[in-house]
Amino acid sequence: MEKIIIGRDRKDLEAYGSRGTVFIGSHIVGEGEDFHLANPVHMDVVRPHVILIAGKRGSGKSYTGAVIAEEITKLQKEIKKNISVLMIDTMGIYWSMGRPNEQDAELLREWGLKPEGVKMRFFVPKGFIKKYNDVGVKVDRAFTLSCGDMTATDWMITFGFKPLSEEGLAIERAIKKVQSRFGRIYSIKDIIKEIENDKKTMEKTKNALVSRFLSARDWGVFERMGTPAKDFFKKGEVTVLDVSHYTRTSTGWSVRSMLVGLFARKIFHERLTARKSEEFEVMGGEAKKTIPMVWIMIDEAHQFVPSEGITAASEPLLTLVKEGRQPGISLVMITQRPNKLHPDVLAQSDIIISHRLTAEEDIKALRAIMQTYMIKDIQEYINSLPRQKGSAIVLDDNSERIYSVQIRPRLSWHAGGSPIAIKKKGIFD
Ligand SMILES: Nc1ncnc2c1ncn2[C@@H]1O[C@H](COP(=O)(O)OP(=O)(O)OP(=O)(O)O)[C@@H](O)[C@H]1O
Ligand SMILES: [Mg+2]
Repeated sequence: MEKIIIGRDRKDLEAYGSRGTVFIGSHIVGEGEDFHLANPVHMDVVRPHVILIAGKRGSGKSYTGAVIAEEITKLQKEIKKNISVLMIDTMGIYWSMGRPNEQDAELLREWGLKPEGVKMRFFVPKGFIKKYNDVGVKVDRAFTLSCGDMTATDWMITFGFKPLSEEGLAIERAIKKVQSRFGRIYSIKDIIKEIENDKKTMEKTKNALVSRFLSARDWGVFERMGTPAKDFFKKGEVTVLDVSHYTRTSTGWSVRSMLVGLFARKIFHERLTARKSEEFEVMGGEAKKTIPMVWIMIDEAHQFVPSEGITAASEPLLTLVKEGRQPGISLVMITQRPNKLHPDVLAQSDIIISHRLTAEEDIKALRAIMQTYMIKDIQEYINSLPRQKGSAIVLDDNSERIYSVQIRPRLSWHAGGSPIAIKKKGIFD
C-alpha cells in the first residue's frame, strides 16, 4: 500500500521519496466507530521539525512521543548515525524503553510487529542515583550540570525572586563576584560564601538566600564541572534524562524548569558549534567529530513554556523553537493543555498530532493557528476520530494536508499508563 508521508514538502519528496522517514501509524478511513485502517503513515525525521503532540489525559500523547523515539533508533545505519534523541523525562515514565512491550504482544502481532526494547541510556541526577538503585531501576549514568551555567536570572526565576528585589540584587552581586574570581568554574558553596560576605545585603535576606542555595545543593545536580555536553548524545540511541524526582519538592516545577532550561541552552550551543564544523566539512575541510543532530522530547511542555508568566526554561526553549532549525534541532512538545502553552510554540509547530481533546479553550487554541488547508472545523475532525487510544488528527504544514491516524503500538514497554508498582507520576511519588 502506498505510504502517506508527512513532514516533507514536495521538493524533498521528489528528491528523497520515503528515505529518512519513519513509520508512526496507519491512516484512519471512515468516521467514528465505522472505520478501518488503511495506508501506512510515515514521518520525516531528517529535517528539523517542531512537533506538537496534544490531547486530553490518557489519550496517548506520551506514548506517541515514545513511538517517534523508537523509530529513530530503528533507522538505517547511515541515517541514524547523524541523529540522536534526548528525552527530558519530567514524569519518570521513559526509563522502561529498553524493555520489550510484552504486555501488548498480541496487539503488536496484529500490526505485524514484535515486542522489542530499544537502544537507550538512562541518566539520573547524581544526587539521586542511590534512590533509583534502591527501587531496582537500572541507571546507566549519573549526570551533573556545571554551576557556572546558571545565570543570576536563572537562580532568581528558580527561587521565585524578582530581579529588582533585594534578594534578586544580592544574587546578581554574588554571581558577578564568583565569576570575576573563578570564571565559569565555581560551586554553590562559593556562591554562598559571596552572599555571606556581601556588606550590602541585610542579614535577613542573607539567611533567606543561603537557605535557598543550600537546598539547591540538595538537588544533587550541580558541580564545579558538570557532565560534558557530548556525553548526553549518542548516535542512533535514546538518552533519557530523568528529572522527575523533583516532583516531590514544593518547588518541583521550578527546579525541573531550571534543568530543562539549562539543557536547552547547552544543546543549542553545542549544535551551533557542530553545525559550523559540518559546514566546514561540506566545503572540503577535514571531518571533525561533532555531536549528532538532536531530537528533544519534552512532556508536559506547558509547565515549561507557559502562555502566562515565565519559567527558567521559557527563554531557552523559545530560542530552540524559533532558531533550532539552522543548528538541526527538532523539538517534540507534548501537552494536555495547548491553551496553556506559549503561543509561539503553537505558531512554530510544523506538525501537530492531536489526540482527542475536549476542553473548549484547548480546541480554540488549535483553531487559532488553524491552517488554511483545513476544510472543516477542527472540532469536526476531532469528533470523527474513533474512540480508541492512540487515534489522532495530524496537521502537516509541510504537505499542507490533514489526516486521521492511528498511532502504532509501542515496541518497548510503556510505563506511563501501566498499573505496575512504580506509579505513573514519577518513580518516587
Ligand atoms: N497508539 C496506541 N496504541 C495502543 N494503545 C495506546 C496507544 N496510545 C496510548 N495507548 C494506551 O493508552 C494509555 C495512555 O497513554 P499515554 O500514557 O500516552 O497517555 P497521555 O495522553 O500521555 O496521558 P497523560 O495526559 O495522563 O500523561 C497507554 O498506557 C496505552 O495503554
Ligand atoms: Mg503522558
